[in-house]
Amino acid sequence: MINNLQNMLLISQQEPLLEVPEAMVEIVQKTAEVASTSPATNLGYLIAAVLFILGIKGMTHPRTAVRGNFLGALGMLIAVLVVLGGGRVSWSLVIVGMLIGTAGGVWLANKVQMTQMPQLVALFNGFGGIASVLVAGAEILRGTAAGCDPKVAGFAAGLTGLIGSVTFTGSLVAAGKLHELPQFKQPWTFGGQQWVVAALLVVGLLFCWGMTDGGGEYLPLVVLAFALGVLLVMPIGGADMPVVIALLNSYSGLAAAAAGFVIGNNVLIIAGSLVGASGLILTNIMCKAMNRSLGNVLFAKFESSGAVADADEVYAGKIKKTSPDEVAMMLDGVQRVVIVPGYGLAVAQAQHAVRELANLLETGGVAVEYAIHPVAGRMPGHMNVLLAEADVPYDQLKGMDEINPTFAQCDVAIVIGANDVVNPVAETDPGSPIAGMPILKVGEARTVIMIKRSLSPGFAGIPNPLFAADNCLMLFGDGKQALVDLIAAFKEN
Ligand code: TAP
Repeated sequence: MINNLQNMLLISQQEPLLEVPEAMVEIVQKTAEVASTSPATNLGYLIAAVLFILGIKGMTHPRTAVRGNFLGALGMLIAVLVVLGGGRVSWSLVIVGMLIGTAGGVWLANKVQMTQMPQLVALFNGFGGIASVLVAGAEILRGTAAGCDPKVAGFAAGLTGLIGSVTFTGSLVAAGKLHELPQFKQPWTFGGQQWVVAALLVVGLLFCWGMTDGGGEYLPLVVLAFALGVLLVMPIGGADMPVVIALLNSYSGLAAAAAGFVIGNNVLIIAGSLVGASGLILTNIMCKAMNRSLGNVLFAKFESSGAVADADEVYAGKIKKTSPDEVAMMLDGVQRVVIVPGYGLAVAQAQHAVRELANLLETGGVAVEYAIHPVAGRMPGHMNVLLAEADVPYDQLKGMDEINPTFAQCDVAIVIGANDVVNPVAETDPGSPIAGMPILKVGEARTVIMIKRSLSPGFAGIPNPLFAADNCLMLFGDGKQALVDLIAAFKEN
């Protein structure tokens, strides 16, 4: 939310790129200096900044998340109003921009399905990056740097161009990967790629340094950074995407903060830094969840990740199908059931059916819990959001470290549309793209019911030997329909 509103702020800050009489430019610049230093403006920014921080604090717990979201949005509204009221903006451009943005937003909101939200969020990150690039570019075209030391502003403009452009093309590639476009799906590398990336980075930083004297290398820098963004994200695949998504989110914030230095706007510096810092914290959390270091994610995939096992060999003659009636009978008389949601739950929109099944089981005295893997789904917190939508009590959601030691005491684990996050090859095959990723150890439950439509792989594109395990039964079908049938059969029992 903050990210998107921050883009609005960036856009509302943008100076007119059209030719205007010099005297008018001077008046605008003078007003800008006054506006950026006036106590009322800074007080408004201070209030907005405090609200952002309170908002983020509120979002650390589901009970306070709605209030946190509201406070963050209020902070952004105040920041936007202060900027608009500061006399720096061309109203006609703001209105035209808002109309175009609103039309695009409405079109996207109608067109994009719920399951495509992760790629849309990736695109929004990219838009944040390119907005910063354009703001810094506009400032360079004007040849001014409001309220800031010119050397600092020049360097900041360079950094904005570098980070914002990397964010833009990196996010486009990430969106392509999340959309599972064939051209983007497989990690893409070539010999010496690390060296090319390192060289581009060094040259990019040299460009930034060169801009401290107000140099005009901005366009070549942006082109170079576009290439860098593609080269950084294309090699990443398998299960490492969550880390990249979090990192790109952080980059978009850092680009905005740098743009704040370029235009001398305190609240942009603060909001950008908050997004940058929280993105870095999220990156760290994702790295821990995947048992990876950041360097490993960004550079290890430059080497081949090894051969993928053949699905026929893994599954041939070992798959046991089951039916809703059989599962309903099995659930009769059990004591503890763990539900394991994954991306397929989001595709099937089966969250309400899951809750209904859990209610039925609980009415019969069964203890029900939900096992949440940190990278299940396609967005950080994807499963938490889905289950919250169905009013699943938050205390029934158990993290990986808490639930894993208890699977041995679980009568039935019902896995709904999860695949990679329960795939044991993460622990057994060092050549696998998910090698080393901690998994939910559902295989230790007495019985595993796997609800999915087929034997197709998950995001990492590899077979899952759990499907062929002795204690695993496959309930093939769409997640929601399978649950509806299961609920009906359970009620009949
Ligand atoms: P996945 O491994 O992607 O598996 C999802 C499974 O859901 C598929 O095997 C699919 O099998 C099944 N499915 C799809 N539609 C379904 C439907 N309508 N009904 C029932 N099942 C359905 O999901 P996961 O276990 O949640 O793992 C997440 C993966 O995404 C990880 O590799 C993770 O690294 C990656 N990733 C995560 C994120 C974040 S931040 N969470 C971001 C990017 C990537 P069928 O087609 O046979 O039904």
